[in-house]
Amino acid sequence: MTCQAPPYQPQQVRFVDQLSLVAAQSAVRTSRHFLRFALAKWQAALIEDDVLLVASELVTNAVTVTGVLPEPPAWGELERLGLVHVRLVGLPDSVVVEVWDESDEPPRLQRVGDDAEGGRGLLLVQELAERWGSYRTTGGKAVWAQVAVRPPLPRRPTGEGRGGRPATPPGPDPALLRRVRAGLDAAL
Ligand SMILES: Nc1ncnc2c1ncn2[C@@H]1O[C@H](COP(=O)(O)OP(=O)(O)OP(=O)(O)O)[C@@H](O)[C@H]1O
Ligand SMILES: [Mg+2]
Repeated sequence: MTCQAPPYQPQQVRFVDQLSLVAAQSAVRTSRHFLRFALAKWQAALIEDDVLLVASELVTNAVTVTGVLPEPPAWGELERLGLVHVRLVGLPDSVVVEVWDESDEPPRLQRVGDDAEGGRGLLLVQELAERWGSYRTTGGKAVWAQVAVRPPLPRRPTGEGRGGRPATPPGPDPALLRRVRAGLDAAL
């Protein structure tokens, strides 16, 4: 099923994580790292495989259409590189991956023969997602796919990332700050 508007109302949104990347091949693997981390933080790691596959297809398409695929990009190409934005939106029982690019051309699902080399990315997205679609944005469009999550997502991040590491870096140590402050005061 496809849909031409964002598949959620603002009041349904439990969390949003977003990353902006240059429209180059490196955006594909960087967005995978970003999404893996965000899904773990939001206790949605169970659907990691599907979300990463879907995101890889959408980001690859965005880079193919608006950026450069050869890695690394040639010097002359760096100047004209645009941005793609990858956004993970958490809803009560699903996540939406949105990939924004600077082209206003909508994606087109293709009918491909058995011997065709390409043209299957969106078919895979359609297979893995409950729904997908695209909508116009200022300066381009967003292509999105919605993947179901069960059990429902929590309302707050877990506080623990993968491997038991904290999901956010620890804040400064107050005792250390007091010692630095005392040292500075003594030096003045
Ligand atoms: N972000 C996009 N912006 C504009 N057009 C798009 C975008 N994504 C896909 N399309 C169009 O939709 C077509 C189908 O995309 P799809 O991902 O299914 O196949 P492909 O990218 O051509 O091949 P493959 O993904 O198998 O390598 C693309 O060929 C392209 O014309
Ligand atoms: Mg593709």
